[in-house]
Amino acid sequence: MSLSTPLVLGIETSCDETGVGIVRGEELLADAVASSVDEHARFGGVVPEVASRAHLEAMVPTIQRACADAGVALTDIDGIAVTSGPGLAGALMVGVASAKALALGLGIPLYGVNHLASHVAVDIVEHGPLPEPTMAMLVSGGHSSLLLVPDVTHDIRSLGSTIDDAAGEAFDKVARVLGLPFPGGPHIDWAARDGEITIDFPRGLTSGRDMQRHRFDFSFSGLKTAVARWVESERAAGREVPVADVAASFQEAVTDVLTRKAVLACQEHDVAALQIGGGVAANSRLRAMAQARCDAAGIALRVPRPSLCTDNGAMVASLGAQMMTKGRPASSLDLPADSSMPVTDIQSGLPVTPEHDHPH
Ligand code: KG4
Ligand code: ZN
Repeated sequence: MSLSTPLVLGIETSCDETGVGIVRGEELLADAVASSVDEHARFGGVVPEVASRAHLEAMVPTIQRACADAGVALTDIDGIAVTSGPGLAGALMVGVASAKALALGLGIPLYGVNHLASHVAVDIVEHGPLPEPTMAMLVSGGHSSLLLVPDVTHDIRSLGSTIDDAAGEAFDKVARVLGLPFPGGPHIDWAARDGEITIDFPRGLTSGRDMQRHRFDFSFSGLKTAVARWVESERAAGREVPVADVAASFQEAVTDVLTRKAVLACQEHDVAALQIGGGVAANSRLRAMAQARCDAAGIALRVPRPSLCTDNGAMVASLGAQMMTKGRPASSLDLPADSSMPVTDIQSGLPVTPEHDHPH
């Protein structure tokens, strides 16, 4: 095995995607994903027990598919990385148990890593080494965070996050109000392409005292309620709801807030590169607006291709490969699944020393 270009298999099961990725150093070799999203659609959200069972069923076939796609045997792998948190407890446990079995059986190191840090690290297989520091904005169904990232393997600082709904959650809830299927983000994105920005929806925490107190925090629940009220009053008046226009106007409000705060964070912290990750980073309007605003501010924008923005195993493998390359210690085999793992804890199962216990 060559430590400079370790071959790492990464497992992701924090939500409804069973992801197994294989990375050699900074090179993506395989990204196999099995999603149980269809099984949750009729409930309008992810059902944890259903997700856990689907992970169990999908795990072995997805590992086999990843190895076949990469053209490697399990015995070629140098290290195993797995999402140990945050996420759904039962779902995480399936991934963590599988990873431990693989590491133990193959006699190779195990790295229990943070899901959010993995969303940042995935961009290395797309655009090469991350500038240090990088500003990362993670926008998914469960999270909306602005992170200052001096070193993705062991130093991530949270500048702000949502104080209520996550950005993706707002997309999903507004889609429901508009009668669009779950998950709603892609459907709003598509609907908005035929619409016009005709309604001025509120931009939470962007002015006055709110902005002073929550400079890099987000709030989307007021926006969601404003959209629901607007739609209700149209229906009550017997008018047909202009779904495309509402989708475009809502999407504009979310995108405006996200990109405004991300660019401001870069400027105030003297960071020249912004990376956007998480499922909402697949949004076409967010990508276009972020590009325009970063260009205007002289900030280099990095957004992975959409399939690497949503949950996948390659992101976990990428972070694991960075840890191996940088000589970070492996996690212990009794590492826990931690459903509420803070983003500042990039790795779990490390020996408890003052340095590793709480880096900040
Ligand atoms: O990162 P992800 O796959 O899973 C986690 O939540 O961790 O993100 C899923 C979220 C969902 O809320 C989905 O509606 C949203 O990402 N999403 C989008 C788009 N594609 C996925 N939101 C807006 N526009 C999109 N094109
Ligand atoms: Zn995610």
